[in-house]
Amino acid sequence: MAFKNLKTKITDLVENSSKVEDTLLHICTLLKSEVSYYDWVGFYFKNGNKNELKLGPYAGTPTDHTIIPFGKGICGQVAVSNKNFVVPDVQAQDNYIACSITVKSEIVIPIFVNGENVGQIDIDSNTLDPFSKKDEDFLEFICTKVATLL
Ligand code: SME
Repeated sequence: MAFKNLKTKITDLVENSSKVEDTLLHICTLLKSEVSYYDWVGFYFKNGNKNELKLGPYAGTPTDHTIIPFGKGICGQVAVSNKNFVVPDVQAQDNYIACSITVKSEIVIPIFVNGENVGQIDIDSNTLDPFSKKDEDFLEFICTKVATLL
């Protein structure tokens, strides 16, 4: 499904959301099934007042990394940088937490509520260098929508 149609579908899911966790899971499964190179899709959120991320809803292989300290891995770096992080080749990254040996690339986009970085969407791909500015724009759109639920 094209990003344009997925945006419409996700807007609809968010506007008709009754339980946040269910809606987030639905977004993960939708993205994983509709975008060929999205192989693991999940949300991480700041864990209370701790300087760490906690895994939220996700679609894909279960990961051991349910808690990630701020600064660690791609996700932990986004928690402190407040910036998108696109990794075309995970093997070229020193500060990277491997979840699966099949993963070749990753994109992490922060979620802001009232200007505060409260979490992120994290996508792993088994394809090398698959992400473009279009993915960033698309995922920023989703993060803005998700923020309205939080
Ligand atoms: N690779 C991430 C860890 C999370 S897994 O991709 C699910 C990282 O380096 O932060």
